[in-house]
Amino acid sequence: MSDLGALILAGGASRRMLSTTSKVLHRVAGRPLIHYPVAAARAAGASMVVVVTSPKDRETVETYLVAAFGREVIGVVVQDPPRGTGDAARVGAAALGTNVRRVLILSGDVPLVAAPDVERLAAGLSEKTRLVVGTCRMDNPHGYGRIVRDAEGRPTRIVEQRDLESDTQRQIQEINAGLYAVTVDGLSSALGGLSPDNAQGEYYLTDIVPVFAKRGAAASVELSPDAVSGVNDRSQLAQVDDVMFARIAERHRLAGSSVATGARIDDAVTIGKDTRIESGVHLRGNTSIGSGSIIDVGCVVTDSTLGAQVTLLPYTVVTESQVGDACQLGPFAHARPKSVLDAEVKLGNFVETKATHMRRGAKANHLSYLGDGDVGENTNIGAGTIFCNYDGYSKHKTHIGRDVFIGSDSQLIAPVTVGDGAYVATASTITEDVPAQSLAIGRARQSIKPGYATGLRARLEAAKKKSGGGH
Ligand code: UD1
Ligand code: CA
Repeated sequence: MSDLGALILAGGASRRMLSTTSKVLHRVAGRPLIHYPVAAARAAGASMVVVVTSPKDRETVETYLVAAFGREVIGVVVQDPPRGTGDAARVGAAALGTNVRRVLILSGDVPLVAAPDVERLAAGLSEKTRLVVGTCRMDNPHGYGRIVRDAEGRPTRIVEQRDLESDTQRQIQEINAGLYAVTVDGLSSALGGLSPDNAQGEYYLTDIVPVFAKRGAAASVELSPDAVSGVNDRSQLAQVDDVMFARIAERHRLAGSSVATGARIDDAVTIGKDTRIESGVHLRGNTSIGSGSIIDVGCVVTDSTLGAQVTLLPYTVVTESQVGDACQLGPFAHARPKSVLDAEVKLGNFVETKATHMRRGAKANHLSYLGDGDVGENTNIGAGTIFCNYDGYSKHKTHIGRDVFIGSDSQLIAPVTVGDGAYVATASTITEDVPAQSLAIGRARQSIKPGYATGLRARLEAAKKKSGGGH
């Protein structure tokens, strides 16, 4: 087991989000913010990650992280009240466990930090260097702590925005990224000496820097601006979201799928090779797409599994469903939750399915609602077919066998079963089971009155004149 651990500070109040949801649970590319620093620490080799939260977030944060990373590697501790980053680090350090000798300290609100950045911090530790501070140069350093260096260029302390004392300090463009690597021994003793003697009356983690600097044990590593962009308000949240989506798209391109600019693919999504994702597509949650598929403009796929060679034509919506190999859906098709489409199924425009199993080769090409159904192999559902599954109280099932033909504009009033090879005449209202290989016709008989139209028009014309009507 590695002696490297990580502390993620996420216990502060996040007032600038103006939200009842805690900042670290707001989503970036489909995952809560807090996911990313934890993932970066894990990828950089941390064997144990302790997250410091507020009392109100503890349960949600813990449930999410344990499910995502496993109970063995996650610890969640509460800081109450929030008395500053130094206090948060003290609370967290106590939960690290005895195997951890070196610790990464990251912020819960800095989601673009990636494993290589974190690895560089850890690599800076040595016999001599016991604290490594991640820094960054910024055109506009406002709001960040500034790095103060001695004549030899070594970091000596960090001054927070609100504690800046001089114009010289105000002009410092090198800022504290809020990311550190430090030895546990050194951290514990330095934290013990902190005092809340500053503009915010808080225990600043940054005040450990002079303690290490005095012993010549402090160093810094310059990181990319991305690694440090913090989320304090919804504007920064949106910017970070954009950057994350761009990164994810690039990852898929380099792995062999074509992703147009403007597609938004959540972090957990997997995509097979040679699949093409067009612009305006959103792939959300736990979605996976096989190889050689095409997801055309404007499709939204959420928590669904799509096979290989699938085509989603523009503006198709698929939610919590399974779509087999070589299916074709859309344009404007809608597979609602629990739809299961076996291979080679076709759903055309304005076809909606819900909790319906369409077996291999079944087709519904136009304007249908297929809810709570089971449709057999190679069955054809005509335009405008409705499975009337709801009587106002409960849902009922429609079973249709294989090789069935359902004529256009038919309604199947569930519960109802249509046997294999049956044929339902167009515009039928089916209320009773149809045996296999039978023809069912359920509609009023047409009657013809020869010549009747001429007389009808004359009467209507006369009535209109009498009432003095225009149109
Ligand atoms: C902090 C740094 C600043 C740095 C900046 C980088 C300090 C004193 N300042 O400032 O030098 O430039 O990050 O983004 O460390 N937190 C707790 N408990 C608390 C207070 C904060 O867990 O009592 C957590 C927050 O939830 C957040 C992180 O620590 O995830 C940073 O806190 P924040 O208040 O955002 O610090 P900054 O003012 O941004
Ligand atoms: Ca911050």
